[in-house]
Amino acid sequence: MIQETGLTVWFTGLSGAGKTTISRAVAEQLRRQGRKVEVLDGDVVREFLTKGLGFSREDRDENVRRIAFVASLLTRNGVIVLVSAISPYRQMREHVRQLIGNFVEVYVQAPLAVCEQRDVKGLYKKARAGQIKNFTGIDDPYEPPEQPEVLCPTDQETVEESVARVMRHLEVELDYPVFPQPLTVGH
Ligand code: ADX
Repeated sequence: MIQETGLTVWFTGLSGAGKTTISRAVAEQLRRQGRKVEVLDGDVVREFLTKGLGFSREDRDENVRRIAFVASLLTRNGVIVLVSAISPYRQMREHVRQLIGNFVEVYVQAPLAVCEQRDVKGLYKKARAGQIKNFTGIDDPYEPPEQPEVLCPTDQETVEESVARVMRHLEVELDYPVFPQPLTVGH
C-alpha cells in the first residue's frame, strides 16, 4: 500500500476571521481530489474532545494541545488534517509545529473591526457588553504568526481566493498526485 503524505494545516486567527469557512472549502476540494481529510474545528472539538475547557491561557493551551495530539496521530497515518482554532498563543503554535512536523500554518487575517462588524455568532456584541469575559481581541490577547506559510487577508479577498491560495501551497507540499497521470503511449 502506498503511504500517502500526511499533513496538518493549521488555521489560526480571530473569531470571525474566516477559519472555519476556508478550512471547510479546502477540505471539500481535497476530498474531490480523492485525498483522506479530517477537519478539527475549535467550536466542534470543544463540544467533544475538549468539553469543559474554558478560555484562560491554560485552558486554551490545553485545548490546542489535545487537538494537536489527535492531529499528529492522523497526520502520521497519511491524513490531511485541517485544524481551525483561534490558538492565540505563539509559543503553543510553535510547540505544535515541532510536535507534528508536517505542518503548515495559515494565518486567516482580518482586522478586529471587520470581525466585530461581521459578528456572525453575536459574541463580539456580548463581549463588548461585558457578558463574555476574556474574549479574544477584546479583553484577551491574540499573538499573530510571524512567518506563516500562508496568509489569507480575508478583508481583502474572496473565500475562493483564500481557498486557492491555500491549495496552491498544498500542491507544493503534497508533491505527488493521488491519481497518477496515465502513461501516454505512442505520441
Ligand atoms: S482557542 O483559543 O482555544 O483556540 P477555539 O478556536 O477552540 O479557541 O474556540 C473559539 C470559539 O469559542 C470562538 O469561535 C467562539 O465561538 C467561542 N468562544 C466563546 N468564548 C470565547 C472567548 N472568550 N474567546 C474566544 N472565543 C470564545
